[in-house]
Amino acid sequence: MKVLVLYNSETGNTKKVAEAIYEEFKGEAKLMETKSIKDISEIDGYEYIFIGFFVDKGYPDEPTMELLPKLKEKKLGLFSTLGAYPYSMQAFRVFARAEEVLDKSNRIEGCYICQGRVSDESLKRIAALPPDDPKRSKKSTLRREIGMSHPDSEDLENARKIFRNIVDRDLKGF
Ligand SMILES: Cc1cc2nc3c(=O)[nH]c(=O)nc-3n(C[C@H](O)[C@H](O)[C@H](O)COP(=O)(O)O)c2cc1C
Repeated sequence: MKVLVLYNSETGNTKKVAEAIYEEFKGEAKLMETKSIKDISEIDGYEYIFIGFFVDKGYPDEPTMELLPKLKEKKLGLFSTLGAYPYSMQAFRVFARAEEVLDKSNRIEGCYICQGRVSDESLKRIAALPPDDPKRSKKSTLRREIGMSHPDSEDLENARKIFRNIVDRDLKGF
């Protein structure tokens, strides 16, 4: 069984999750940045491809949106980090948006998403917005504060477990 863990990450949150999943399958896995793929044939020959991306304006980030339509007949797992809560509609929607651009010959075996700390740059930008901007509301500020510690060790453990389960269940045929 061979696992390829692909990821794209601007500020390191999604990379942390990717590394945790990679560690889970170490010895039978490869870790690679989505951006580094030059030719799609480079990622042939893996039984599972787990793809990590950050949520960018409600969509999977650009390198991932470029990669997804090129995949054919793959067993996939998707994982992501975002500023919003992992139980928000935005979180659910992003996987649907990933699925929309995938060829139907692929199979998504499972998905995982958790919150990721918003970058210092974004925090600065938000702080410069007018005080009545919705992004500066109490609710949004609290959400970002909660996000500061994510992905945390529990998120990483959950990601490892979910992707391990995907492979184990598949091997057992259920
Ligand atoms: C350009 C940009 C757009 C973003 N858009 C969203 C968004 O639409 N929804 C959201 O919940 N978080 C959004 N975020 C927050 C990131 O998804 C979040 O901080 C993520 O954990 C970053 O992952 P990374 O550290 O792997 O780059 C955005 C961040 C950036 C920089």
